[in-house]
Amino acid sequence: MKIDEAYNLWADTYDTNDNVTRDLELAISKSILAGKSFSKIIELGCGTGKNTEWLIDKCDSLLGVDFSSEMLRKAKRKIKSDKVKFLQADLTKEWTFNNTSADLVTSSLILEHINNLDFIFAEAHKSLSVNGQFYICELHPFKQYAGSKARFELNNEIVKLETFVHHISDYLQSAAKNNFKLLELNEWFDEKNRAEIPRLVSFLFQKK
Ligand SMILES: C[S@@+](CC[C@H](N)C(=O)[O-])C[C@H]1O[C@@H](n2cnc3c(N)ncnc32)[C@H](O)[C@@H]1O
Repeated sequence: MKIDEAYNLWADTYDTNDNVTRDLELAISKSILAGKSFSKIIELGCGTGKNTEWLIDKCDSLLGVDFSSEMLRKAKRKIKSDKVKFLQADLTKEWTFNNTSADLVTSSLILEHINNLDFIFAEAHKSLSVNGQFYICELHPFKQYAGSKARFELNNEIVKLETFVHHISDYLQSAAKNNFKLLELNEWFDEKNRAEIPRLVSFLFQKK
């Protein structure tokens, strides 16, 4: 099944299913971006607007981009703000909106579905003003090596989505190649239990 079709089917239950990864990412993004404010935010793969909801209080305008019509429908139903625009677009194709001089681009739980990290870093670089920040939070590759991937239940069956493994070095090399410097790298564990495999990894980069 194509990834956008899978998310169209997941959209109805995405916000309400038990989902430790989704909930942990919400807490992480809030903590990494705490105390910061922005002029323009571009939210990649905004989905049902889990993060849009609180990011709008940190900026003057926000563009949420996603290729799933049903995830976007949920987001639009939830978020009514003049500050927010939603756009249906495939982020693996040239970005038509990257002349917007954003000062923050966010990417939460989407890059496991995108093979070519270089392309995303290059387009994010074009979208950001100098010193603009690029926040990324993804399933930790250790989890990916152990077989974890985005999945959901539909009609009592587990639907597994197409995913790509990205090693920590892939993110760092792609960022360096595309003129980003690393500000922060963090690994996040279930219930802060550092004896277990970390669930998520987050990066905060800055455009040079
Ligand atoms: C796991 S959801 C995350 C949604 C939201 N960022 C969050 O943290 O809850 C991944 C989202 O990325 C979107 N997505 C995946 N690949 C994409 C692509 N190539 N272009 C645009 N959106 C994409 C999906 O449609 C889905 O809404």
